[in-house]
Amino acid sequence: MHRMLTAIALALGTCSLTLAAKPTATSFGKTESGKDVELYTLTNDAGAIVKVMTHGATLVQLQVPDREGQVEDIIFGFDDVTGYESAANQYFGCTAGRVANRIAKGMFTLDGKDYTLAVNNEPNALHGGVERSLDKVEWAAQPFENERGQGVAFSYSSPDGEEGYPGKLDLVVTYALAKDKNALTIRYTAETDAATPINLTNHAYFNLAGQGSPTILDHRIRINADSYTPVDETLIPTGEIKSVEGSPFDLRKPIKIGKHIGELVETPALGYDHNFVLNAPEGDKKQRLAAVLTDKQSGRSLRIMTTEPGIQFYSGNFLRGDVGKGGAVYAHQSACCLETQHFPDSIHHPNFPNTVLKPGEKFRSATVLIFSTVKE
Ligand code: BGC
Repeated sequence: MHRMLTAIALALGTCSLTLAAKPTATSFGKTESGKDVELYTLTNDAGAIVKVMTHGATLVQLQVPDREGQVEDIIFGFDDVTGYESAANQYFGCTAGRVANRIAKGMFTLDGKDYTLAVNNEPNALHGGVERSLDKVEWAAQPFENERGQGVAFSYSSPDGEEGYPGKLDLVVTYALAKDKNALTIRYTAETDAATPINLTNHAYFNLAGQGSPTILDHRIRINADSYTPVDETLIPTGEIKSVEGSPFDLRKPIKIGKHIGELVETPALGYDHNFVLNAPEGDKKQRLAAVLTDKQSGRSLRIMTTEPGIQFYSGNFLRGDVGKGGAVYAHQSACCLETQHFPDSIHHPNFPNTVLKPGEKFRSATVLIFSTVKE
């Protein structure tokens, strides 16, 4: 259909004019609690198709061409919202927060007051809570199109005390697909009426050979980080910022994910599940290069730029063969997450970049996923 429209548009010589339109919504089902969930489709002139839904401001599909121009969905997920609400969902494609990643023992003290969070990843708090974390709530959608492309802005106001966090937090997550190149920008803003920790990320699981392909151990990874944050047996950072030199964490040059992962199998992470301290942006640029993931077979390559200081590289060690989109089986280490973020458990580590947002401040963060293809 998209190809046909492109052909018609090209014939008329009005390609962008004909294709430019505000994304429209279709139904993605009803949540357990009876709320209607909307799915928005973004398209561009470079062959990408992106689908995002109101439940959890979630990235549901990311279809990009391989080196032959074959378009395939390269992220994990489900065919309707019921799948996303099932036990098989491991934060697939969602907006994770209020505080993505871990907070030790689900407790913190801020301005002399103690706060208790749900412990949902023994003995720690993970990805913002249990019932009302950002991936589980319904967001309001505002689709848009402009000269740069199409997008959807999702907004949500998290009330004071939700999932144990202080302050009413007003959030906007925007997905914007560029018109003439396969670049998806994910932008976050937030404002609070009381000091509160915040750390937002997208939790997409990538397999560039196509979602449901058996492994990512043959993908090549490059992470632009001279150091990382070592963790204890519960995956909480020890506080040390350690050089990657001479370790399996030295991913500064492209290397197969499978090359050194064996050295991490006996650790509590069972593979890669670590935060990397990204090298500073070049010159006066705001965005830094975070990671490059390449699948030589299909030729698809993903380059990630971000304003965030860290990235969690998680090699899908806890995937266990659940069934997802179109009956695909999500096997152990068959996808990886590249979660741009502030460092885990920052609230307990004054030497890590600050994650506390104060009233009157505006939280801003942006990550760009840039797709291209490589030759054999
Ligand atoms: C964490 C993993 C966790 C996964 C849950 C990742 O961000 O680092 O430890 O199992 O999320 O899906």
